[in-house]
Amino acid sequence: MEVLGIDIGGTGIKGALVNTLTGELTTDRFRVDTPQPATPQSIAEAIVEMVEHFEWKGKPIGCGFPGVVHHGVAKTAANVDKAWIDLNVESFFHEHTGCPVHVINDADAAGIAETLYGAAKEQSGLTLVLTVGTGIGSAFMYNGRLMPNTELGHLKFKRGIAEHYAADSIRKLKDLSWRTWSRRLNDYLNHVYSLFYPDRIILGGGVSKKFDKIEPYLSVPCPILPASLKNLAGIIGAAVSASETFVTAS
Ligand code: BGC
Repeated sequence: MEVLGIDIGGTGIKGALVNTLTGELTTDRFRVDTPQPATPQSIAEAIVEMVEHFEWKGKPIGCGFPGVVHHGVAKTAANVDKAWIDLNVESFFHEHTGCPVHVINDADAAGIAETLYGAAKEQSGLTLVLTVGTGIGSAFMYNGRLMPNTELGHLKFKRGIAEHYAADSIRKLKDLSWRTWSRRLNDYLNHVYSLFYPDRIILGGGVSKKFDKIEPYLSVPCPILPASLKNLAGIIGAAVSASETFVTAS
């Protein structure tokens, strides 16, 4: 099945057509800047631009959203406009695009893709995928099955919340060296490890491309791996999740 996968991020909205049987992109990736403020209306307009770019009419879309998504309804919006909260994002995007739309949390999408086609392929046990970018997202995959909406970036940590201490946006905002910031990330990873004892942690999001700069400072009692699908994981996982939903429904 071919699905338009879309990943809504804090700075960019990225999309591509995905073959959901192989996890491969069948087109180049198309990116538009995330409009600021990132309101439902402005993001819907960017999604329509994406749909028109791919000439995608009435066919399935899978979308990763940077907040808790409970049965299609946004429940949090840490890095986008608060007007998203309690909006049925699936119906809203369907009204704008005319396409059937399935929406899940962006890190959950990355977790699905990395487990099926990426760094945790054919691995059993507990895989924790953390996407480190504007915020920190998390996906727990246990024996290949997702436990959704875990939000480990919002753990209380160092007198605040974890993503305000260790997200990549904090490195940029405070102009921290890779060494200083990687040590922060290492503290956070050890905290998470001591709570859940995952078999492996996969780092995704923007930092997956900078893993060589971070790795020397990481010391955690389980393997830490870069996401092998890099920041395409969100697009691929959202598309795969939509294909499963729409095939089951039909
Ligand atoms: C949100 C998560 C999201 C993560 C990465 C966090 O601020 O609460 O839902 O997965 O950012 O976008």
